[in-house]
Amino acid sequence: MKQLLVIGIGAGNPDYITMQAVKALNRVDVFFLMDKGQSKDKLIDLRREICERYIDNPDYRFVEAHSPERERGDVDYAASVDELNRAKQQTFERLINDQLSDGQCGGFLVWGDPALYDSTVRILQAILASGACAFEFEVIPGITSVQALAAQHKVPLNTIGRSIEITTGRRLAAGQVSDADSLVVMLDAEDSYHQVADQQTEIYWGAYLGTPDEILISGRLADVADEIERVRKAARAEHGWIMDTYLLRKP
Ligand SMILES: C[S@@+](CC[C@H](N)C(=O)[O-])C[C@H]1O[C@@H](n2cnc3c(N)ncnc32)[C@H](O)[C@@H]1O
Repeated sequence: MKQLLVIGIGAGNPDYITMQAVKALNRVDVFFLMDKGQSKDKLIDLRREICERYIDNPDYRFVEAHSPERERGDVDYAASVDELNRAKQQTFERLINDQLSDGQCGGFLVWGDPALYDSTVRILQAILASGACAFEFEVIPGITSVQALAAQHKVPLNTIGRSIEITTGRRLAAGQVSDADSLVVMLDAEDSYHQVADQQTEIYWGAYLGTPDEILISGRLADVADEIERVRKAARAEHGWIMDTYLLRKP
């Protein structure tokens, strides 16, 4: 039987790797690196660095595959995500069938934690259900960008005894959020914090968390929203890409 390990590598800092992840890395024969174009080179480099740093026996290899991208622009969002996941499923099937022999172990190095806004586990479950390949797999949790954000700002995510909602910039902009007083927003390409009705809300914003390029800004939206937009735009232009997350706390 082929074995697959879905390993959470933490969201940026190689020190975020857990002992369980180190043990898992050392079991892998073939690492599948999903390349998302030039702007994500740094993310691929970090994965290679993690392997060099934590694996004792250099008898492993990398297989790079182009990661399909979602169709953007004026298209139905849910349909484009479905289409993307189908394309990713085909890529994964090809990798598992062509690059891994029976008895070997393949590894997917997942940014942050595989349980949070990542489709690797969902896709592997879909492949198993379709019968297209046979394998066993395990999931190793990692430190999410949400945990990194809270740690770097030195704030708890929840207020005492209250709930937290984790959502996307798209849903925030559409007003599709609950009345939780702590809201964590990910995948926001549109500066959706400007849409928050009460601009006395506090924001704890972080970009490139855990990396040498990390940027942190916090304060009331009324005071810092424009600064975040400006800094975000400049950082994106400088690096060619940006990953940012923020916590919104009602006053
Ligand atoms: C596809 S999701 C993956 C989340 C990841 N699985 C995790 O556990 O953090 C990508 C989003 O995570 C957030 N993110 C991931 N890494 C980050 C980092 N180092 N700094 C800030 N935000 C990050 C951003 O909101 C980004 O748009």
